[in-house]
Amino acid sequence: GAPVEVDISKIEPGQRITVQWRGQPVWLVRRTPEQLAALPSQNPRLRDPNSDNTEQQPDYARNEFRSIRPELLVLVGLCTHLGCVPLYRPELQAQPFDSEWKGGFYCPCHNSRFDMAGRVYEGVPAPTNLKVPPYRFVDDNRVMIG
Ligand code: FES
Repeated sequence: GAPVEVDISKIEPGQRITVQWRGQPVWLVRRTPEQLAALPSQNPRLRDPNSDNTEQQPDYARNEFRSIRPELLVLVGLCTHLGCVPLYRPELQAQPFDSEWKGGFYCPCHNSRFDMAGRVYEGVPAPTNLKVPPYRFVDDNRVMIG
């Protein structure tokens, strides 16, 4: 499939947009400073907090934010369990099913949870972090996926 160029200038802090790339949903989220600050607090509860599984992101996204620029998260929006599309649940408040969860992505098919970097929690069916697709910044306002 061809690369897809995305205008990110209108994505508000905390907002997620979805584009299609190679027949898959790709999410772009402009994370807030609060969402970024909450990431390290989740590390002890994650299966792969340091992105050691190199299949799940390009090398340039193998960092604490899993992204090129900290604020802009780019993920393939398919659960790594059986491929359902997880829901965006960015609320920092405690969730009813997990009082320590700081928000992220929730897969309703079998209750897998991911944080605001797409990192999977221990104790859920999804085996790996959500995938970061290849991407690059064309300029400040445009990202090329693929
Ligand atoms: Fe997402 Fe099973 S497909 S938890």
